[in-house]
Amino acid sequence: MLAKETTPSAIVNYLDQYVIGQDEAKKVLAVAVYSHYRKISTLASSSGAIAKSNVLLIGSSGTGKTLMCETLSRMLGVPFVTADATSLAQTKYVNEEIEAVLQRLVDKADGDVEKAQLGIIFIDEIDKLKASKVEARVISGESVQHALLKIMEGAPVKLKSNQYLDTSNILFICGGAFVGLENIMSKTHGFGFISTTGGDNQNILDRLNKRVKPTDLFEYGLIPEFTGRLPIIANFQSLSKEMLVRIMSVPKNSIYRQYIEIFKAEGVELAIGPRVFEQISEIAIEYKTGARSLRGIFEELMTPVLYVVPDNPDIHRVEISSLFEDPRLLRRSQER
Ligand SMILES: Nc1ncnc2c1ncn2[C@@H]1O[C@H](COP(=O)(O)OP(=O)(O)O)[C@@H](O)[C@H]1O
Ligand SMILES: [Mg+2]
Repeated sequence: MLAKETTPSAIVNYLDQYVIGQDEAKKVLAVAVYSHYRKISTLASSSGAIAKSNVLLIGSSGTGKTLMCETLSRMLGVPFVTADATSLAQTKYVNEEIEAVLQRLVDKADGDVEKAQLGIIFIDEIDKLKASKVEARVISGESVQHALLKIMEGAPVKLKSNQYLDTSNILFICGGAFVGLENIMSKTHGFGFISTTGGDNQNILDRLNKRVKPTDLFEYGLIPEFTGRLPIIANFQSLSKEMLVRIMSVPKNSIYRQYIEIFKAEGVELAIGPRVFEQISEIAIEYKTGARSLRGIFEELMTPVLYVVPDNPDIHRVEISSLFEDPRLLRRSQER
């Protein structure tokens, strides 16, 4: 099922085309995904020989967690669905909700259960399961974790169609922002007791110190069995202004490229200056939703222009050099 050329580095190269930055997370996820599908294809007969390693993605909202999982599954050609742990906690019928998630995976596989059994499920907001005083929960976060555990470990689940879906080979990726995790880590961490000699590799020690320990996650209400099922952890960095600028223009399907195409269809050349991307990124940083607000701000900028252009076939080029200046609409007639 995994093509020979689909090595971890090939996976990272593919991800690079769509996801900006997050190099460390890309590597961790690429190796995890590679090992997972290798194991399935080489150990097909001796199922269950090696326990499955599901993945935990830690990073704030809008840093590319969902995008990376989605891009991965597109590359591998496996069905992909997302679910929110918080919405699972808002229903009395967790198991029915989980079944519905699995049903969506089957739908994504065009009804092919076999194919769905090799899919990827991303469960976000896993850090918000802890019972809080503010939100009244229908069921406890702990019971959601137990329900999730069952399918993550691998279980036959009966679908509405009366077919059974075996979750053993489904790759589960969990995500969460885990706000304040650094503080917890700095309290509990430090391999200070490991004597460092001149010969020790400081990089390796730094990496160990940066590692999130299962116990760090207990403070978020994650139960030991659950964290035990998520042995692979990938950290997503907050997006810098430079990264936000690149997100708008560099990826194959970036917002800027999409708008260039839209304008091209109108016979118009679109040219947006670098200052505009910086200004949009600065606003996005204030919104604190990662890259998520970029599209909205960008669309707001483009709407008035796209309103005018179709009525004015003589406009052949649009130049925007600042968010705070009117776009320049260049007309053929002006040049003659
Ligand atoms: N690292 C990134 N590279 C490219 N685009 C990104 C990146 N991070 C976020 N985005 C953009 O922001 C949107 C929201 O990102 P998403 O993956 O849903 O964030 P998360 O799941 O981490 O909350 C995506 O649709 C994508 O367009
Ligand atoms: Mg997401």
